[in-house]
Amino acid sequence: MQAAVMRANNAPLELEEVEIDAPGPGEVLVRTAASGICHSDLTVIEGGLPMPPPCILGHEPAGVVEAIGDGIVDFAPGDHVIGCLSSWCGVCNFCTGGRPYLCLTQFMGRPEGSKSRLSTPAGDPILQFGNLSSFAEKMLCPERSLVKIRDDMPLDRACLIGCGVTTGLGAALNTVNIPAGASVVIIGCGGVGLAALQGSRIVGAGQIIAVDSQAWKFNLAQKLGATHCVDASDADPVAAVQEITGGGADFVFECIGLVPTVQQAVAMTGRGGTTVLVGVVPVTEMVSISAADLTLQEKKITGSFMGSNRFRFDMPKYIDFYLDGRLHLDEMISSRLPLHEVNDAFDRMRKGEVARQVIVFD
Ligand SMILES: NC(=O)c1ccc[n+]([C@@H]2O[C@H](COP(=O)([O-])OP(=O)(O)OC[C@H]3O[C@@H](n4cnc5c(N)ncnc54)[C@H](O)[C@@H]3O)[C@@H](O)[C@H]2O)c1
Ligand SMILES: [Zn+2]
Ligand SMILES: [Zn+2]
Repeated sequence: MQAAVMRANNAPLELEEVEIDAPGPGEVLVRTAASGICHSDLTVIEGGLPMPPPCILGHEPAGVVEAIGDGIVDFAPGDHVIGCLSSWCGVCNFCTGGRPYLCLTQFMGRPEGSKSRLSTPAGDPILQFGNLSSFAEKMLCPERSLVKIRDDMPLDRACLIGCGVTTGLGAALNTVNIPAGASVVIIGCGGVGLAALQGSRIVGAGQIIAVDSQAWKFNLAQKLGATHCVDASDADPVAAVQEITGGGADFVFECIGLVPTVQQAVAMTGRGGTTVLVGVVPVTEMVSISAADLTLQEKKITGSFMGSNRFRFDMPKYIDFYLDGRLHLDEMISSRLPLHEVNDAFDRMRKGEVARQVIVFD
């Protein structure tokens, strides 16, 4: 099959012929129909999340089951599925405690000494990213990376739910509890931020303030539910948010992953408010913030990983939201492209020219 392989950090992905093994026990072979491109793929390419090459990235997929391994009862060939990074073991403290997205054995490779799921034609192993590797025509996944979805859901939109939408929507719906009427700021209107914005609208937030440095995104943000927009390239976004909210917002979602915007997020959070860190700051960087600001104003900071999901429960619900007209996905797609244009897509993402881009397969 064709796949885009990361051979080195900070270099273009290379389109190669790759071998994919047959499904073993507990595994499902999926024909990839579509894969969204998430900023976390770019963070891996740029070395901000450690993942040794050669590796096949891509972790926001939807597809069709082609074959199943021994012991699979939840899937059959022909089923439509979404893939998610948040595979769960089902038995660790986090899984049994109701937080499977924090599962301790999330990245379930094959047992020691088995054949690699992915390899070169010469037999050299290629690393699989998050049990998925969707920048490829097929994926060989543990069954607990997949959820079956309705057949009437278009797969080129379903894929967005695999990471960005679940991350953003779940940050607003699962990680925190937003009372109706609360003020919300979204910093960064990419796929993740626009989903957090829609989650805030769906739960009935009051002011929903979109902050971005690319003013062209504001039309889109307003269509999706923003009540105010702040151009971070134009004015001090902290002062602007304080002015709109009268002193700071109840909830601020940082959806970029930069040190200065994390600091801005804490500064925009009002007394008693909550800062939600959704963007992934490169693991090599530290963020300095005022502890007194947190103590004296009783601000809270929380991380939000993969929208605190229970994805087999959440994703079919998000699909219903889309098909009911409450969750807007069509508007979030800036372009659809073939796999061989994946490097151009990353260039556009670096420049902030897009909301979400989707690779579609024949
Ligand atoms: N927490 C999680 O589980 C999780 C999951 C998926 C993605 N992420 C992370 O979420 C973040 C966003 O992902 P995405 O795919 O939406 O990214 P994206 O690149 O599509 O969007 C980022 C947005 O931020 C804007 N921006 C950049 N610099 C800015 C600045 N200084 N001020 C204001 N706006 C600025 C860009 O114009 C763009 O609209 C990334 O860090 C990604 O790694 C986290
Ligand atoms: Zn992602
Ligand atoms: Zn577990």
